[in-house]
Amino acid sequence: MQPLVIENIGTLATMDGTGPHGLGLVHDAVVVCAAGGIDHVGARGSCARPAGAVVVDAHGGAVLPGLIDCHTHALFLGDRCDEFARRARGETYAQIAQAGGGIRSTMKAVRAASVDELVDGVRPRLRRMRARGVTTVEIKSGYGLSVDDELKMLRALRQLQGEEESIHIEPTLLAAHAIPPEEETATSWTTRIIAELLPQVVAENLATACDVFVEQGAFSVDDARRLLGAASDRGLKTRVHAEQLSWQGGARLAAEISALSAGHLEHITDDDARALADAGVVCEVLSLAQVFLKSQRAIPGRKLKDAGCVVAVATDFNPGTAMSCDLALAAGLAVTQSGLFAEEALQAITTGGAQALGLQDRGVIARGKRADLLVIDAVNPLALVYRWGEDLTRAVVVGGRLALGQMS
Ligand code: NIG
Ligand code: FE
Repeated sequence: MQPLVIENIGTLATMDGTGPHGLGLVHDAVVVCAAGGIDHVGARGSCARPAGAVVVDAHGGAVLPGLIDCHTHALFLGDRCDEFARRARGETYAQIAQAGGGIRSTMKAVRAASVDELVDGVRPRLRRMRARGVTTVEIKSGYGLSVDDELKMLRALRQLQGEEESIHIEPTLLAAHAIPPEEETATSWTTRIIAELLPQVVAENLATACDVFVEQGAFSVDDARRLLGAASDRGLKTRVHAEQLSWQGGARLAAEISALSAGHLEHITDDDARALADAGVVCEVLSLAQVFLKSQRAIPGRKLKDAGCVVAVATDFNPGTAMSCDLALAAGLAVTQSGLFAEEALQAITTGGAQALGLQDRGVIARGKRADLLVIDAVNPLALVYRWGEDLTRAVVVGGRLALGQMS
């Protein structure tokens, strides 16, 4: 692989925790990448241009770590535009789900598809994410809802990950997303996941984590404790969808089992926030979903930060509750809806995302880290969370290769 140099960087936001607000700013900087990693970070002229290097001119713009979207349901087919229209007239997410819509309607489309059709459906979405600077994305299963269809979803992710153009995918098993129509209860499906699905997922190494939707009409805290315990025993990381529509105790469970992350959290209490902080659970603020569902109850991002939690922001990209993969917009909304400081929102889609995925090799620009980088057309890196809906991408580097943008 050729070395790669980014020159003429107006502001480098290393996100290494140093300097004002921890952004680790270096002005008038250069970054050198070699063999897929970051080899040198410094001021202009601090390093000779390596022979044969691919040279990228940042034209005085800002450079940040590649963005990390740590919570998505991006592997789906079909859309639920009709549900969006029904909600606008006053129906709720829960009512639509009870009437057979919601997750189950996406399940029908996913069950009818082959692995190749799933791959073809999600590939353009991954390209759109990369075009906006996302270089690592977590994607959950959860629309197959049978042993075979959940495996099919995870195999589709495996196939995508093998494609050279791909961004990095972290696959999560979310079979406990809804009760399958063939199954008696959430508890009986949980038992089947543990007995039949988990062993296969682990044997084929198809997922790095296991997640559960803890909610009324979905899975109880006891179901989740049993499933996540089994998943953890088999070496998977654990996550929880907690306290999204009502308080169920999912956040407290995440703390009890030291889950890696917990997402949504609209209905947490002060005690929950402290428990999450004490247990070191990374808290995912999913602002697009909150706004998309017209929830008046903002995710208490400020409360989480003040309690000492590590916070990540993610899109939750899915056809029902967040039909957008715009991670920068999610971060902007986390500022206005959830009280994060602008700098914290930027941390939440870089270092915070990396922590939510348990990946120590990214989220920061420093020697030895993965060379995942985003060059934007603005001098101030905060433009990313401030200029909503604008495409600021000038170049994207994934694993040391120029994935988007021009060589100079
Ligand atoms: O994170 N809350 C449950 N799961 C998703 C929604 C999935 C869907 O509606 O398709 C979420 O919001
Ligand atoms: Fe989700």
